[in-house]
Amino acid sequence: MIPAAANIKERLFNIRELPTIPALHNRILKLIDEGNYSLDDLSSLIERDQVLSGKVLRLVNSPFYGLYSKVASVGKAIVLIGSNPVRGIILSTPLFDIADKKLPGLWDHSYCCSVVSGFLANRFNMKDIGEIMTAALLHDIGKVLIRKQLAEESAEIDKTVQSEGMTALDAEKKVIDFTHDAVGSWIAGQWNFPSIINDIIAYHHKPGLCGAYPGEAAVVHLADFIVKGIGISASMDRLVPLFDDRGWEKLPLPEDELIDILSEVIDIIEAEPSFSQYLSWRKDER
Ligand SMILES: [Fe+2]
Ligand SMILES: [Fe+2]
Repeated sequence: MIPAAANIKERLFNIRELPTIPALHNRILKLIDEGNYSLDDLSSLIERDQVLSGKVLRLVNSPFYGLYSKVASVGKAIVLIGSNPVRGIILSTPLFDIADKKLPGLWDHSYCCSVVSGFLANRFNMKDIGEIMTAALLHDIGKVLIRKQLAEESAEIDKTVQSEGMTALDAEKKVIDFTHDAVGSWIAGQWNFPSIINDIIAYHHKPGLCGAYPGEAAVVHLADFIVKGIGISASMDRLVPLFDDRGWEKLPLPEDELIDILSEVIDIIEAEPSFSQYLSWRKDER
């Protein structure tokens, strides 16, 4: 039997610390937070970690940035994308490490949402593109904490998705009486992220209700909708939740441009070798 919701919340939010961040990553975060770092200092610290360097270089070389030549240096990458995405990658790494085992596919889904959100934000002439991409990278991070802390309930959520044909979001609501967007917002608060990132995570499934950043939350909502619709999603989370009508109104997206924009987004996803497999139907159509 699943315990009452109050008990579940206590177990979830009473964890004293989020998974530990290695000492090297803490040094990098401190440098970024203090703000007065030299590019050489920051990039040489990042270069000491091959996995982190690889993630930074993958992001800067993603089709979103549309660079003519490949960027192979971490220093150049930071000049191009800024330090905010680096901060997001570092903070999310311990949770994504857990996700690799418990929610395979979540990193690919999140990374792809980040790239697509960056493209859309740029297309809609929004500022804060770095923050929007970071929030998109972290938008589903609450799912990982639910998996980590609530094993029994997570199994029940998966069972409900399968037996009742529900989205994972609806199954979370049914089984534990709250959802991963609220959990993710709590994590963003623990990490002291700026309010724009926290709000986007909190409202990525209902941007129409977001008070301060509805357009930015709607961009990540749309990116999530498209990416999931293509099939790039975490295991056990294949159904696409309904699009939030009120969120649609927050987007500066004329209806007659929708098809063109979707086609451009699909081109961007297709240009990523690891995602092109999801678009094999496109080759068949040509
Ligand atoms: Fe989500
Ligand atoms: Fe998502």
